[in-house]
Amino acid sequence: MLGERPRARGVPARCHCLLLLQCLLLLRAPAGLLGDQTRRVSLEVIPEPKDPSQNLLHIRAVGVNSTIHYIWSSLGPPAVLFVATDTPHSVLSINWSSLLSPEPEGSLAVLPAKSVRFSSALIFPRLFEFDSTNSSEVKDGSPGKPYPPYLLANFSWDDVNSTLDPTMLSATFQGRPSKDPLGAFSNGSLAFKVHAFSGSGRAAHLPRLLHTADTSQLEMVLSGAVPQGNHSLFGLEVAIPVLDSECPQLKEQDSIDDEYCPSVFQLAQLLWHSSPEGFLQWRPVAFSQKQPDWKTAVPCQVSRPGPTLATLLPQSRIVIAFFGSSVNFCTFNLTFGDSTGPAYEDQRYLSWSALLGIGIPPVDSFSPLVLGIMVAVLGAPALLLVGGGLSLLILRHRRYSEYEPIS
Ligand SMILES: *[C@@H]1O[C@H](CO)[C@@H](O)[C@H](O)[C@H]1NC(C)=O
Ligand SMILES: *[C@@H]1O[C@H](CO)[C@@H](O)[C@H](O)[C@H]1NC(C)=O
Ligand SMILES: *[C@@H]1O[C@H](CO)[C@@H](O)[C@H](O)[C@H]1NC(C)=O
Ligand SMILES: *[C@@H]1O[C@H](CO)[C@@H](O)[C@H](O)[C@H]1NC(C)=O
Ligand SMILES: *[C@@H]1O[C@H](CO)[C@@H](O)[C@H](O)[C@H]1NC(C)=O
Ligand SMILES: *[C@@H]1O[C@H](CO)[C@@H](O)[C@H](O)[C@H]1NC(C)=O
Ligand SMILES: *[C@@H]1O[C@H](CO)[C@@H](O)[C@H](O)[C@H]1NC(C)=O
Ligand SMILES: *[C@@H]1O[C@H](CO)[C@@H](O)[C@H](O)[C@H]1NC(C)=O
Repeated sequence: MLGERPRARGVPARCHCLLLLQCLLLLRAPAGLLGDQTRRVSLEVIPEPKDPSQNLLHIRAVGVNSTIHYIWSSLGPPAVLFVATDTPHSVLSINWSSLLSPEPEGSLAVLPAKSVRFSSALIFPRLFEFDSTNSSEVKDGSPGKPYPPYLLANFSWDDVNSTLDPTMLSATFQGRPSKDPLGAFSNGSLAFKVHAFSGSGRAAHLPRLLHTADTSQLEMVLSGAVPQGNHSLFGLEVAIPVLDSECPQLKEQDSIDDEYCPSVFQLAQLLWHSSPEGFLQWRPVAFSQKQPDWKTAVPCQVSRPGPTLATLLPQSRIVIAFFGSSVNFCTFNLTFGDSTGPAYEDQRYLSWSALLGIGIPPVDSFSPLVLGIMVAVLGAPALLLVGGGLSLLILRHRRYSEYEPIS
């Protein structure tokens, strides 16, 4: 667990100069993989020819010189493969009879194979539930005493095709345990809502992550399930196949958020060691109500990714199909809520969102409104000082290049 509890509602009390400096450092426009700024993004369900209820969800984002593929599956635990190629013509190839066989190695590929520049996957093996009522067990960052986890490979998932919206570029995997002796999910479900984007922008509802056409968003929603205790906390396990044993790196940074959500806010990122790099990005909050607002936000804690034995994990067919059966895995846990704040059982609702992508992760930049407020709050001198310095630099550079041909 990371030392202190994430700050769920911003950090207003902070030196303004520091804020200004940080914000200036963060001024970076989202840029695409291999320089592609626009993509044609499509979303399709690929059915098994004989049994269309067995299927995969394929998001294809085609740029001038590259393609990004996201392949979602609920064959086994929910999982997503994400692959970038350096051609606009790469295709997904599936051998269904082999994919559904006991040895699915090699049955799923992105072709031509030599165009692949990046590939990785995320698997969601388990949903955890913890009893956070015993204070002697909650200390040291532990969420509490664990109940037996829900194995997501044992869930039965509704047909994703019935939720497909090709115009909105969205689809939902919704499921519940196939055996539910306590009836905890008789009125509830766990959903993974997948959303792709045709351009850059920001979602209409919190946490309003900045997205680009290179990225796709995942929203996990636990809704209506009966908790096993009076103050249950939930957690999600995430596994990543790695070819060596080097886990992606977890970085937490302050990001700014202007009129969309006030003050400096934290952003957590998982970054793959590669070029182009893969990333998973989220704000360290989850929401305990259908209408998310900051009052019902609960903290989301993350553990550092660490190597895990593949034998301890339920296997994902698409991951074996693409990477083979001898890959290593890194796992980490996300935990939602704490023992004192709003609880899942108040509304029986929990949602958490993250952005998955390849290339340069989108970072918040300034809106004109915030620049205006900063001038008012900080006073013009500070801004003028920085702005003046910048324009002097630009001026100098220009002069130099103007004079160069003459001399
Ligand atoms: C696409 O690749 C060609 C040839 O390598 C290059 O000239 C062009 O600038 C690239 N376009 C983009 C948008 O990156
Ligand atoms: C998916 O649903 C659409 C309409 O809802 C239907 O036309 C199509 O045949 C379905 N595809 C599969 C693979 O079930
Ligand atoms: C699909 O895989 C099976 C083995 O599982 C193989 O017999 C068959 O030839 C493959 N089909 C294609 C089109 O490659
Ligand atoms: C709380 O946890 C401690 C340590 O596991 C245990 O000894 C104690 O009995 C628990 N208290 C309650 C009320 O369950
Ligand atoms: C869950 O699935 C595993 C195999 O993936 C099986 O061994 C186990 O019995 C299942 N558990 C339940 C409760 O269905
Ligand atoms: C099931 O859900 C519906 C609507 O979401 C609600 O009205 C009903 O009270 C719930 N039933 C139980 C047993 O929780
Ligand atoms: C929940 O709280 C009630 C009283 O507030 C108590 O009677 C009950 O035993 C508690 N349930 C659990 C599982 O701790
Ligand atoms: C995740 O949480 C579970 C349940 O508390 C624990 O068994 C497992 O070791 C944790 N994994 C990591 C990587 O921290």
